[in-house]
Parts: sequence; structure tokens; C-alpha cells
Amino acid sequence: MTTTYKICLLPGDGIGPEIIAEGRKVLDALGAKFDASFEYTEALLGGIAIDETGEALPEDTLRVAKASDAVLLAAVGGPKWDTTDPNKPRPEQGLLGIRKALGLYANLRPVRIFGALADASSLKPEVIDGVDLVIVRELTGGLYFGLRERFYDEEGCGADGATGQRAYDTLEYREYEIERIVRHAFETARKRKGRVHSIDKANVLETSRLWREVAHRIAGEYPDVEVVDMLVDNAAMQLINNPAQFDVVVTENMFGDILSDEASMLTGSLGMLASASLGDGTALYEPSHGSAPDIAGQGIANPLAQILSVEMMLRYSFDMQDAADAVAAAVESVLDEGWRTGDIANNTTPKDRIVGTAAMGDLVVSK
Ligand code: NAI
Ligand code: MG
Repeated sequence: MTTTYKICLLPGDGIGPEIIAEGRKVLDALGAKFDASFEYTEALLGGIAIDETGEALPEDTLRVAKASDAVLLAAVGGPKWDTTDPNKPRPEQGLLGIRKALGLYANLRPVRIFGALADASSLKPEVIDGVDLVIVRELTGGLYFGLRERFYDEEGCGADGATGQRAYDTLEYREYEIERIVRHAFETARKRKGRVHSIDKANVLETSRLWREVAHRIAGEYPDVEVVDMLVDNAAMQLINNPAQFDVVVTENMFGDILSDEASMLTGSLGMLASASLGDGTALYEPSHGSAPDIAGQGIANPLAQILSVEMMLRYSFDMQDAADAVAAAVESVLDEGWRTGDIANNTTPKDRIVGTAAMGDLVVSK
């Protein structure tokens, strides 16, 4: 029996519409082969939503997203909507808003090296050899959502009673928030190489000590998974020094923000990095890069991060592992044959192997 999946498409801004079309192409090709059909509903998010409705996240978009089995997003934003006026809507509000409204507390960013692109990394080939890791970042708690304030400190402090602006942010985690993200990491590790690095700053921060305690308690339920505690500063170093040691890396929001950007650059190519944001309901899949306004409308954007987001959707939302493996293998094989979009081409790439957005999508489909 053919299963039908409802997908909410959010093309957004810049190169968004161009790359999401290629993600859709790949889904359509897979449907026939893997006995599934995909139904799409397109909705507005980001700058285009501001232009058409005055809001970055229209209510209708949220309704469509919630009624779907998964959301495929391209990217939002661009200079057209840049503003410092706090009363004007900004495209990013749409992104943060939809993540929050869908309760997407787990952000997964896989980092793997495609052999054919090994020379794109700034690290030595022997250092990145065998790198295949995923960062599991807590996305709805911690410093980014804590109490914050800025005020003028009239009392002053210190020996000279210095007055001036004063500001604070608070880092807070509840046990259940740690538990669900850590559990996510262990479940993910079970389907991979069976190793979890739990990153914290337990030598200094109380939230980190709670994090470590909870991580160890959950670890007891997963005797088949190896758990390693690592302090965040050491983790930052190890990611560059010996990245192949990592399988699943789980950490709180801000550490994860920083470490995932660091880890993503092991590959050296922004156009290849997918991400998934998961919660209790509809999950959201998007490339890690932005809307690339500098190349929008030219048909030259790399659609592979979007296509690899489709791979994650198949894996995590639809449990279509064979279809997901087929996407990964197709991308690998297209790259092995030397096909490149401009961003991943270099001076040894023959001119006739440099292709545009739609041609790259077609190549993946043909594989
Ligand atoms: P960006 O990721 O859009 O672009 C950085 C550079 O990488 C640019 O030179 C761009 O041409 C290139 N690039 C990015 N994706 C590419 C692709 N698929 N193929 C080929 N080249 C690609 O980051 P930037 O320039 O900092 O931000 C541009 C806009 O995107 C801003 O408005 C920003 O707020 C927004 N943005 C949105 C995100 C999202 O929707 N999740 C994430 C990051 C930025
Ligand atoms: Mg970031």
C-alpha cells in the first residue's frame, strides 16, 4: 500500500525557491521507487511573508506546518528586510517563531566528508579522513531563552565605584529539558556508531553539573552506547585535532551553536550541510546555509544541502531508511563523477563538469 506523506514547503527568500524545487524533484523521484507519495502545500515564511502579509510567520503558515507530516524549509532573509527598527518585522523572526511553535528542541547537524570533496577542507586529508559525526544541539532552552536585562547601574561598583551600562543573561535548564535531548542523542547513537560525547562545562557551571548528572542517569538505560564526558573548551580543540573520534555530540544551546558551526567547516563547504530540527510533533528540515542573496535568481546555487535535508526527512520523519540511503548514495556518486556547482568547484574542475542548480538536481535524480 502506498503511504502518503504531507509536506509543508517553505521556499522563503533568495535562492530558497530555486533549491527547494530540487528537493521536491528528488522526493518525487523516490516516491515511485519506494511506494510512497508526497503531497505538498506551499506556505510563506520570512521576507516574502513580510511582503505579502506584514508578518514573518503568518498564522496560516503555522496551521499548514502543524497539519503536515514534515516541513521542508529552504532559507529566509536578505538585505531587503534588514532593519534596526524594533517595530519592523524581520525574516529571522519567522524562523525562530516556527521552531518555537513546533516545539523543536533538538537540532541535528550531520557533518560527513564526501571523499570527492576532501580537498575543500582547510584541514589535512589525514585529519578529516573518516569524519562522520552529528551534533545534537538543544534548541529551545539555555542562555538564548533565559531572563535578560540591560540597565544603567547608578550604584556603581568596584574600588572606584564605576557606574555605566550593565547587562545580564541567564543560563537555566530543567531536568526534563536535558533528559529529552540526551535521550535523543542516545537513540541517534544506537542507529550509528554507538558513541555519545556529552559536552558541558561541569568544572564551572551548575547547569552543566546537572547536565552531566542527567546524562549519566540516561546512559544507564543504554548500556550498548559508550558515553564520554568532555569539557566544551577541550571539545572545541578536539574537533580540529581529531574529529574522527566523534560519533554523536550532544550539548546545550549556545555550546551547540558554536560547536556546530565549527564542526560544519570541517567539510569546507557550506552548500553541503543539512540539518533537522525535531520535537514532539512535526519536524523541520533545512540546509545550514542562508538565502545567499548574492547569487539568488542566477540558477547557480548548490541544491545539495537542501537535497541532503530531504534525506534526513526520509530518515527521521518517515522512517524510509532505504530511500534515505539512496539519496546519500546518489549524491556521493554524482560528486565522485566530478560534477560540481560553482561553490564546490576548484581550479582543477573541468569547465564541462560545472553545472547549475537544476542540472545538479537532475543528476541526483538520475542516480
Ligand atoms: P549565506 O549562507 O546565505 O551565504 C554565505 C555565502 O555562501 C554567500 O557567498 C553565498 O553565496 C554562499 N552560499 C550559501 N549557500 C549557498 C549555496 N547553496 N550554494 C552556493 N553558495 C552558497 O549567509 P549570509 O550571507 O550570512 O546571509 C544571507 C542571508 O541569509 C541573511 O539575510 C541571513 O540572515 C540569512 N540566513 C538565513 C538562514 C536560515 O534561513 N536558516 C541561516 C543563515 C543566514
Ligand atoms: Mg549559528
